[in-house]
Amino acid sequence: MTGIVEKLYNTGDLSDGELKALIGTDDTETAELLRRYADETRQKSYGKKVFLRGLIEISSFCKNDCLYCGIRRSNKDADRYRLSREDILSCCENGYGLGFRTFVMQGGEDSFFTDDFLCGVISEIKEKYPDCAVTLSLGERSYESFRRLREAGADRYLLRHEAASEELYRKLHPVEMSLENRKECLFSLKELGYQVGAGFMVGAPFQNTEHIIADLRFLQELQPQMIGIGPFIPHHNTPFAGENGGTLELTLRLLGILRLMFPKVLLPATTALGTIAPNGRELGLKTGCNVVMPNLSPVKVRKKYDLYDNKICTGEEAAECRGCLQRRIESAGYEIASERGDCIK
Ligand code: SAM
Ligand code: FES
Repeated sequence: MTGIVEKLYNTGDLSDGELKALIGTDDTETAELLRRYADETRQKSYGKKVFLRGLIEISSFCKNDCLYCGIRRSNKDADRYRLSREDILSCCENGYGLGFRTFVMQGGEDSFFTDDFLCGVISEIKEKYPDCAVTLSLGERSYESFRRLREAGADRYLLRHEAASEELYRKLHPVEMSLENRKECLFSLKELGYQVGAGFMVGAPFQNTEHIIADLRFLQELQPQMIGIGPFIPHHNTPFAGENGGTLELTLRLLGILRLMFPKVLLPATTALGTIAPNGRELGLKTGCNVVMPNLSPVKVRKKYDLYDNKICTGEEAAECRGCLQRRIESAGYEIASERGDCIK
């Protein structure tokens, strides 16, 4: 099995059969070699730098009903909120002072956030903080909307494709959503000059190795600048409440594989990874990750952005979260980068 890792390290690709074997193995020697090569590859591209993204969760209202997600519209127990323009700008002010040079506005698909509203907020942020990048993660919108937001100054867009297999996508989403539209959005975003992030959950219900290989092949086709993967974690008020969550081992294995397939990609050690294991994000950093996304949302709303059970970082102030992550990053042997952290060409 270590021969397969050598091949992946040397060529950046594997056949479907080899990927299947590597994804399915529980050999610890293979896992360690993969980790070592992933770390070496990340260091060749980005050194020891870790980029911080200040995450502002702007709305927990969502028109969608994804079966895995705690803020799906059918969850009548969800405590909904949305941030005002003033709230968002004050998060940015706080974040800028803490050294963040990227702000990520994420939320459910909430029609309250019109193009006019978002364009106003984006241009205000870009005007006040010209050295910062603005990332959006607001779900599927029209081409015209993506165009206007880009024109207003948005630099990046995160939109996980969730599942590149039609069959799995159908099992995770209600009929009114489509993989075709999701993919089309991603290609439109690229065409409009956004730095684009795609990705999927690890260990989602019904997911098998073939589905994961389809995800990797789709990512090869899209060539995104960012790839977000994290374990699926059940939420008690969703149809998947009783399902098993994704494992630390498989998530780390896939992070290592992704780093070797995409040497220059920006790869976050996600909050979900930190939720399933106390040192999950540190292990992610040691396995090729080079981004972390501390929570910058106002403390009063953090528990309401409730995607999955036991989510970490919902109680801390932004400053505590920033300090906590700095300690974690440094203890893992890496350093926080002070620049906005674009993908290297
Ligand atoms: N509405 C935007 C979208 O659809 O891209 C952004 C918000 S959405 C809640 C952000 C991500 O959370 C999704 O892409 C999904 O992969 C992840 N997520 C949702 N529920 C999850 C769960 N139960 N476990 C782990 N990740 C989850
Ligand atoms: Fe948020 Fe540790 S990163 S408290």
